[in-house]
Amino acid sequence: MSRTVYLNGQYLPESEAKVSIFDRGFLMADGVYEVTSVLDGRLIDFDGHAARLERSLKALDMASPVGRDELLEIHRELVRLNGIEEGMIYLQITRGAPGDRDFVFPDPAETPPTIVLFTQNKPGMADAPAARTGIRVITIDDLRWHRRDIKTVQLLYPSMGKMMAKAAGADDAWLVEDGKVTEGTSNNAYIVSGGRIITRELSHDILHGITRKAVLRFAREAQMEVEERAFSPEEAKSADEAFITSASTFVMPVVEIDGTPLGDGKPGPVARRLREIYLEESRAAAI
Ligand code: PDD
Repeated sequence: MSRTVYLNGQYLPESEAKVSIFDRGFLMADGVYEVTSVLDGRLIDFDGHAARLERSLKALDMASPVGRDELLEIHRELVRLNGIEEGMIYLQITRGAPGDRDFVFPDPAETPPTIVLFTQNKPGMADAPAARTGIRVITIDDLRWHRRDIKTVQLLYPSMGKMMAKAAGADDAWLVEDGKVTEGTSNNAYIVSGGRIITRELSHDILHGITRKAVLRFAREAQMEVEERAFSPEEAKSADEAFITSASTFVMPVVEIDGTPLGDGKPGPVARRLREIYLEESRAAAI
C-alpha cells in the first residue's frame, strides 16, 4: 500500500514526492532529523522530539519552517492518513536546494528549507520478540564527527557499524572512543552494576536521547540509582546487565558484548522492568 507523505506543505502519495538533486541534504548531508514513535495511534514524547529538533536546527544556523503546533498537526495527519497504530514518524529538514552545488550556505531568504515527513508502519513494535531474548552487540571505534549531540542525517558510519555487527553475527554495535563507550550506532547505551544504572553523561559526544531522558526519570522515580558517567567495554562485559534505549527500540536488553554473555545471558530484571515502566508511562502520556 502506498503511503501518503508530507513534503513542503503538501500531503502526497509517496511516488509523487520529489526532491531536487541539488538539495543540500542529498549533496552534503546538510540536514537534521527526528524519529517519533507511535503507540495506540498516538505520539510518544512529541514535545521532547520537537524541542530537540529546534536545538539541532539552531546549532546549524537553520530556521525551522514550521512551529511546534503545525508540526504536531502534520504528525497527527500522517498517522491518520496512513492508519498507523504502531510505528514511527520520520521527519527531516534540510537546508534546501540552492540550484547548484556550493559549500557555502545559501541565503535562507532565497533558499527555503526542505521538510519531509513519512510514516513507518510497525505493528507489534512494542511487543518485539528481541525484547524477550535480548540483543548481542560488538564494540567498534567511534569514527563519527564530534558534534553527535546534533541529530544530523550524516549516518554513513552508523550504517557501517550496523553492517560490521551483522558481519560478526551480532545485532548492533557500541561505539568506543578513548577507551570508553559513547553510545550505540542509533541508541544510547547503559550497563547495570551492583543495582546501579550507569550511562554516559550528556555532552557533544552523544545524542541526547529523548528516550534516555524519560527512562532516567522513571528509574529515579522508582528509587533506582543512576550514575551518569562513561564506562569501558571491559566494565560493560563484567556488568550484571546492559541495555539500549531509542525511540524505535524503547528499552532493549543487551545480553552479549563482543561474544561475552552478561550474567546468565538472558535479559536482566532492571532492563525488563524499565521497559515495562517506559511503555506504560509513555502510552499514558502519548498525545
Ligand atoms: N536514533 N543515539 C543515537 C546515535 C541515535 O541515532 C539515537 C536515535 C539515539 C536515541 O535517541 P532517542 O531516544 O531520542 O530516539 C541515541 C533514531 C531512533 C534513528 O536514527 O532511527
